[in-house]
Amino acid sequence: MPDRPPARVRGAVDLLAPALVERPHARVLEVGCGVGHGLALLCALLPDGHVTGLDRSSSALAHAERRLARPLDEGRADLQHRDLTAFRPDRPYDAVLAVDVNAFWTDQAGPAAPAVRDLLAPGGVVLLAFSSPAGAPDERSADAVAAAAEALLRTGLDVTTGTGDAIGWVRGVRTRSAPGRTAAARR
Ligand SMILES: C[S@@+](CC[C@H](N)C(=O)[O-])C[C@H]1O[C@@H](n2cnc3c(N)ncnc32)[C@H](O)[C@@H]1O
Repeated sequence: MPDRPPARVRGAVDLLAPALVERPHARVLEVGCGVGHGLALLCALLPDGHVTGLDRSSSALAHAERRLARPLDEGRADLQHRDLTAFRPDRPYDAVLAVDVNAFWTDQAGPAAPAVRDLLAPGGVVLLAFSSPAGAPDERSADAVAAAAEALLRTGLDVTTGTGDAIGWVRGVRTRSAPGRTAAARR
């Protein structure tokens, strides 16, 4: 199993990192964690925090389980074999990461964005990143960013977008004053 994380994953974690600097005990969720590269980086970033990996693919999670053996053993990480829309944790998360999870851009009005908003604690941050086959942001990743930004905006998050070396990205913040799920956001 190659251990070097792909550039898209490193770029996304680097973008999320500043939001975690003052939250050493943060609870972070990676949606669509795949084989666990992002989870490993997040665990290294947050030795006193907790990292959850969520994926609907059992084979991907089997790889993640091997990669995360130590933090899982230490209780600093857990893996959830679920679809995002069926995930009901006991507590909300301080940050959510998703890299190349197409539910956020193929179905703008679908359940993925409201589900993520509901998983965030007040003040929590979500970072969605989209790579392109070319390895640098292109029209495809720009389209994904635009669609995902629109989806997060509809849920009432404060949204910013940008591009990095290997990705286009969308950041959403659940402001402390933001209302809970609204009828509009549920549609
Ligand atoms: C293209 S892979 C990206 C994996 C990893 N983030 C990366 O960049 O290496 C997308 C992953 O998201 C998972 N996924 C897609 N939609 C999902 C959903 N609704 N709930 C949970 N996992 C999902 C897939 O099973 C897959 O492992």
